[in-house]
Parts: sequence; C-alpha cells; structure tokens
Amino acid sequence: MIRYSNTLMAAAVAAFLAGCSDGSDQVAEVLPPPNPCDGTEVASSRLFLQQLTSSSVIIKWRGDATAACIGSSAELLATRFTAEETEGDHKEVRIDGLEAGSTYYYSVGGAPSAPAGQQFTTAPERGNAAAGGKTRLWVIGDSGTGGDDEREGHEGEAAEVLAGLEAFVEADGKAVDLFLMLGDNAYNVGSDFNYQQAVFETYPDLLKSVSLWPTIGNHEMGLGFLSPTLGLPGLGTSADPDSYQATADDEPGRMPYLDIFSLPAEGEAGGVASGTEQYYSFDHGNVHVVSLDSQLSARDPEQMATMREWLIDDLSSNDLDWTVVIFHHPPYSKGANHDSDDVEKVNGFDRPQRDMREQFVPIFDAHGVDLVYNGHSHSYERSYYITSHTGTSDTFSTAEHAELRNGDPAQPASGRGDMPYAQLSPTSGGVDDRVIYSVVGNSGKADEDAGSLTAADEWLRHPAHIDQPADTEEPPRRGLPVLGSAVIDASDTELTHSFISVDGEVLDQFTITR
Ligand SMILES: [Fe+2]
Ligand SMILES: [Fe+2]
Repeated sequence: MIRYSNTLMAAAVAAFLAGCSDGSDQVAEVLPPPNPCDGTEVASSRLFLQQLTSSSVIIKWRGDATAACIGSSAELLATRFTAEETEGDHKEVRIDGLEAGSTYYYSVGGAPSAPAGQQFTTAPERGNAAAGGKTRLWVIGDSGTGGDDEREGHEGEAAEVLAGLEAFVEADGKAVDLFLMLGDNAYNVGSDFNYQQAVFETYPDLLKSVSLWPTIGNHEMGLGFLSPTLGLPGLGTSADPDSYQATADDEPGRMPYLDIFSLPAEGEAGGVASGTEQYYSFDHGNVHVVSLDSQLSARDPEQMATMREWLIDDLSSNDLDWTVVIFHHPPYSKGANHDSDDVEKVNGFDRPQRDMREQFVPIFDAHGVDLVYNGHSHSYERSYYITSHTGTSDTFSTAEHAELRNGDPAQPASGRGDMPYAQLSPTSGGVDDRVIYSVVGNSGKADEDAGSLTAADEWLRHPAHIDQPADTEEPPRRGLPVLGSAVIDASDTELTHSFISVDGEVLDQFTITR
C-alpha cells in the first residue's frame, strides 16, 4: 500500500519536473499531488506498536487523532492511513507492504514530519538476525508496580529496571528489537487505569519504537471469580476472560488486557493461527516466540487440550534457529509464596505451575524449544539445561535430567563463560531436546523473604536451578532476590541470555551454540 502511493507520487513529481509535451508548442502543466499529510501532530495519552513484522506494523493510540502518516524520512511523511476505532477506546492503523529491516518514521494526527522517537525498524527477512547480526529481546516480568495501586514500597523500581536496560544498551550500542512482558504487567488488578500508569507511562519511549508482546498474569484478572467478596486481586481461578471485575461492585466484563493489546490470533505475524488473543506465536527474523496462557486456558481441561494441540502444530511447523516460550506461572520455582511443589494452597491459585510442567514440558522437549521465561515469583531463577522433568523438585536429578560436563553427574553444565551449551547436546543423540527455564519476575519488585507459603530454607533453592555466585549468601542460593531483567541476543550461531541488574551489570549469563 505504501509502496504504491509513493510510486504514484514519484511519477507525478517526475512528470511535473520534466514537463509534458503533447506534440504542440504548448507544455501541459502537471502539478504534484498535494501531500495528504498536511495536518499537525495530535497528542495521545498512550502510543504503542503491535505486531511489528518484516512487512507490517500496527500503530495504536488513545486520543483524538484519526489518522497516522508514515515515511522513510523523519522530515517527509507522505503516506496517510485513516485509523480504525477499536475496543477499549483505542485507535489503530495497520500498515502493510513495508520493506524488511528498514526504518520508518511516523506521526499521529496527519503531520508531514515525525516527532523524535516515533520510529521503528521492521524485522529482517524471515530467518535472518536483526541489525548487527543479532536479534535482541528484552524480557521483564511482574513489572507492573509503576501505578498507584502497588507503588508503596516499590516507588520507581520498574523505572530503575528500565534504566538498567538503557545502561546495558548504551554500553554496546545494540538496540532492543523485541519487548516481552511476562504477566502481572499492571498491578493490582490489570485495569485500564493500572495499564495506563504501569505500562504506558512507565515505558513510553520503548513502546513507540518496538512492538510489545505480553502474556497474561494472575494480576491481569481483576478480583477474579473467586474473590469479589474477599477483594483479593491475583487469586482468580476462572478460565473465563469475561469474568473480569476490577471492583466488587462492577458487573463482570471483558479483561482490559484483551482490549488494550492487538495480538496475532490469526497468525498475522508468522506461526500457526491460535484463534485467540489469549495465546499466540510470531516470528521475528531468526527467532520464533510463543506466548502461552497459563492463567485462564490452563484452568480448564478442554481449553488446555486445545492450547496443547495448537502448540504442537505451531512448533512442528517452525524451522527458525531459536524458539522462546513465555507464560506467567513457572513450572520450576521456589519463589516467595510461589512454590511449584505445593500448588493446592489458597484454593489452588498456583495450580498452573504444576499443570504447565506436566502438560507442556514434554512438548517443549520434543519440539526444539530453547528457552522458557516465566514470572510470578518476584526473583530471578534459571535452570540447568534440562529435559524430561515433570515431577516435583525431590524427583529432579542432575544425572538424569541435566546436561553434564564431561558426563559427570557431579558437574552439571552451567553454560557460562567459555563452556557454552550446544543446542544439539552431546548427550542427546543429536536431538534438540533440552530447555532452560528462567524466572524473571523481579522487574517491578523483588521479594525480600520467602513469604508465608514457601519454606524459608527452600526459598530460591529449587534443585533444577543453578547456583548464583552473585548471591549474597554463602553458599550461594539458586536464585537472586534483586531487581532486574533479561536480555537475549540471538545470532545465527549462538544465543546469549544475560540477567542484568538495575545498573546494567550482568549478574548471570549463559550461551547456547548451534
Ligand atoms: Fe507478580
Ligand atoms: Fe503472578
């Protein structure tokens, strides 16, 4: 669409400059068409990108503007798109026909030039790494403390984590290509107002230039089906997205999450169509990402079976170098109040931790998944390079489940430094059957003790997780109770995961080669 319009305009301009002879002495005058982008920028209360692919993007906002303009130079935008009004009082334009790996600039309201920061770079051609030879993902979990509902005690913590990313990016100059959010994105109930503060007012610059790909946490569910009378956010156990209640006085309605985000239910961004925005997949260059719904779909056996079948289809048709899966509830965690061994407490609100492990881990093992990211526990944990472990933590053994150094059960491989993991592991018989699970639920707050539902002496000591030398305890725990986020860099030949602090310092790192 954009190519056609630009071509048309270029032809008209060329004709005008050359003049047009009709064979007589008279020269017909052809004027260039007026630039349809002749308006002014209109402020929006939220402005963000969705479904950025190698050839398309959705620009979405809330405000009075009814159009957006785009171009390949910030000073000359000449292609105008009229916005569609979408759910939740949003407006959006979907733009197709873009060039892969190219930078575009945009205005909102019809201005002929782009304000600073309103630009994005499309994904590279499918299969290729992004600029600089690697695709960079930023992953944050339980980040939603930036609003009034959860600010107390966590003032500015989400912003500190963002500053950590900025320091990390400044050090090597490689910008973020993908922005992933692991759920509990907007405490305390995931209302539109919570999202406004905890997401749109916390990451405004990033949201204008990269696409945000989220998943659903238990705090996206309002007071939940269980607890309107108790008034306890985060304890909902309904599988129905229309059971959302922000307050006990509200009528049940649709989750704000589904109105705020425009997610690819029909395979618009690659991957197999899931038929629902609750879970989806997409491709970005050399990386395939899957976002599962461990909060609603995992609570109903039939919906869970449908999600499993879709996942098997999706992963079976994926041939990209790297596969990353995100969902909220960690299959392996000894976090504060979230123990993957003990999931029946408080009306079973943590059952998805067990059910995702039992029902989905075998699919990850069998279909080449490389990394799984979860939130929910407000700390950092990451596993060995593991396979075939679906039981409780007491059934985990490094000899049986982990990649080993020199085949020695006493030396499970760490993936650190000059001893990277190999995607086709030496012990797997040439099958890509190992996965690393990482909990990054500490991007908006970091719990300072085990809480009341996890045994203090087991806190951050799940045996599937690896020791963290950066821990302050001796011997170090298998987790870090500090704020931070994860950066993934995926080239054609290796993928590096870095857990970074609020200063942008790397506290844990591993590499997988292929
Ligand atoms: Fe959380
Ligand atoms: Fe959570």
